[in-house]
Amino acid sequence: MSEISDPLQTFKEDWVENPQFLTPFSTPIVFDDNVWGIVLYRKDEYQVQLFLVSPNTILPPHRHPNIDTIDVHLSGDIEFYVNGITLMCLSEHLKDHPHMPGISNCIGRTFRVRETDWHSAKIGEKGGSFLSFQRWLNGAIPTNVGDDWTAETNEKRRNMKADGN
Ligand SMILES: [Fe+2]
Repeated sequence: MSEISDPLQTFKEDWVENPQFLTPFSTPIVFDDNVWGIVLYRKDEYQVQLFLVSPNTILPPHRHPNIDTIDVHLSGDIEFYVNGITLMCLSEHLKDHPHMPGISNCIGRTFRVRETDWHSAKIGEKGGSFLSFQRWLNGAIPTNVGDDWTAETNEKRRNMKADGN
């Protein structure tokens, strides 16, 4: 039986099994209003970013036309939508893990976000953190995912507080 090649999935599995920290000289950290990120690894078209989002933040619908992404939830309250479907709810964060008491209930929840996928998020009172595994496509040079951003609506901001500010 032949397997379909999935370079990003292979990269993510290899990196999780054997993390290698290659922090870049250029654009190593991003402070984008309520979203902060650090590049943990960047080599060729592959990148790993760790993101922190402040409490009660909205990430409006958008896509990254030159990035194939696998997002892995770490902690906090994140409601996540892809192509209009809610893939993780705020209510799922109300209790801890059923098999690991005291640990985030949704730790390790993984979402594939293709370059064609519209996605958005709502972050609750705890804030949120996640890892973003990326394969930059079409010759695009990895920097920050916010640099490769197409908004679905007229909203120009990449994030804002839930009260609209
Ligand atoms: Fe995104």
